[in-house]
Amino acid sequence: MTDRAVANPCETLTPNRLNPPPVRLPKLVQGVGFAVFRRKSMRNWMKRHGRIFEINVPIFGESVVVSDPALVRSVCTASTEQLINVQPNLGNLFGPGSLFGLDASRHCDRRRLLAPAFHGQSLKNYEKIIEDETLCESANWPEDKEFRILEPMNRITLNVMLRIILGADGAELERLREIVLPYMKLGSLMAFVPAPPAWTRRHSPWGKLDEFRKAFDRIVLTLIDRADADPGLGERAGILALLLRSRGDVGTGMSRRDICDELLTLICAGHESTSAALGWAFERLRRNPDVLAELVSEVDEGGSDFRRATILKLLRSRTVVDVIGRRVAAPNFDLGEWRIPQDRTVLVRIADLHENPEIFPHPEQFDPYRFRGTRAAAPAWLAFGGGARRCIGADFAITEMDIVLRTVLQNFRIQTDAAADEKSHFRGIAHTPKLGGRVVVNRRR
Ligand code: HEM
Repeated sequence: MTDRAVANPCETLTPNRLNPPPVRLPKLVQGVGFAVFRRKSMRNWMKRHGRIFEINVPIFGESVVVSDPALVRSVCTASTEQLINVQPNLGNLFGPGSLFGLDASRHCDRRRLLAPAFHGQSLKNYEKIIEDETLCESANWPEDKEFRILEPMNRITLNVMLRIILGADGAELERLREIVLPYMKLGSLMAFVPAPPAWTRRHSPWGKLDEFRKAFDRIVLTLIDRADADPGLGERAGILALLLRSRGDVGTGMSRRDICDELLTLICAGHESTSAALGWAFERLRRNPDVLAELVSEVDEGGSDFRRATILKLLRSRTVVDVIGRRVAAPNFDLGEWRIPQDRTVLVRIADLHENPEIFPHPEQFDPYRFRGTRAAAPAWLAFGGGARRCIGADFAITEMDIVLRTVLQNFRIQTDAAADEKSHFRGIAHTPKLGGRVVVNRRR
């Protein structure tokens, strides 16, 4: 009998289930490459090993990095029993009641509860708030003088979130701004760092975060009490009221603590990435006069198709959130020809997917014309992630960017020139233009 004859016939049908090729560098070196020089390191490792390889880094441990579209599709369509959220995740920062910290049926219930607030008619209701905030913030912009647009965008998106999510106004809104901006700045850096033991916490950056968090909860609990005492709670608009009403529902009942976690999650996740994307929008427009001219004439004619295409293109060519993560919960997860063992991290590199010249020829060009009339779809276009954990605020973010851009273009002329592209700066969660999206504007008379 030959060897061939004794071989298990199933083996010839089963693909080669080996681990993906590993990056062979000390863990610390890989960690620094991942945390500090991510873009460059990933490109080097991808060049060497292809669009799937394994790294071993502090915090996430042994992790499979994927940017092959077919494999990314498998990650996005995997069941929530196979893949859960990456550990640690932003639930670390916002608390166990945050959508980021939930998995399986609790995650699914919470998404079902929140979804109506981020779609359809709800989005229409937010448009006026977004326009008002943009007009208010831009009222004192300097003319003929270069300034960073990132901070104004950050203030607009934060105010919008505080008003829509909490219904906050006046002094409460002011106070919340003073808390959330520094909380998010520090929190973005600490989000994935394991928290120290309780007794050292006070003297670490976590102590500062705890102080901000207490101040935030104090205000939000007052707002909750006020809404709770309102006989008209059933008809009240806003996400706080939505969560409050769900407290009694079977399966989705939320404690006050969980409500605070979720509100903070939406406020922070909702404003940070959208303002980064808007910062990039102006950075691109300054350097692309043809695109800008077409946008302005479309605004003047009352259209919006090209603006939408520009936003999709922007989110493709300047990736704000460059990586999403999952953890293998099943005993194994088969990814193409590879078998990934339980507890292993899977990282999808959105940026490398978006810059793949086989999918997007000349990925460095800013040509929204190609996105006109198309629907950007996963897995090639993955700005908002994919699958069961796809960004819940995706439609909201696009609407917000649309209204902010429209309002600015209606009121200001943006000066264009041949300034060098701004590099990307990683703020812990979002990638922003390194110089803050510097622009020079004039008011349109
Ligand atoms: C341009 C703006 C935005 C970008 C680029 C962005 C990107 C992302 C990405 C990549 C994810 C991870 C998806 C995954 O793991 O598959 C995510 C998740 C999430 N985003 Fe966004 N986002 C944006 C705006 C928003 C807004 C406006 C909100 C809230 C109003 C929001 C709330 C969330 C939440 C709560 C999650 C967690 C979803 C879950 O785990 O089920 N994001 N976002």
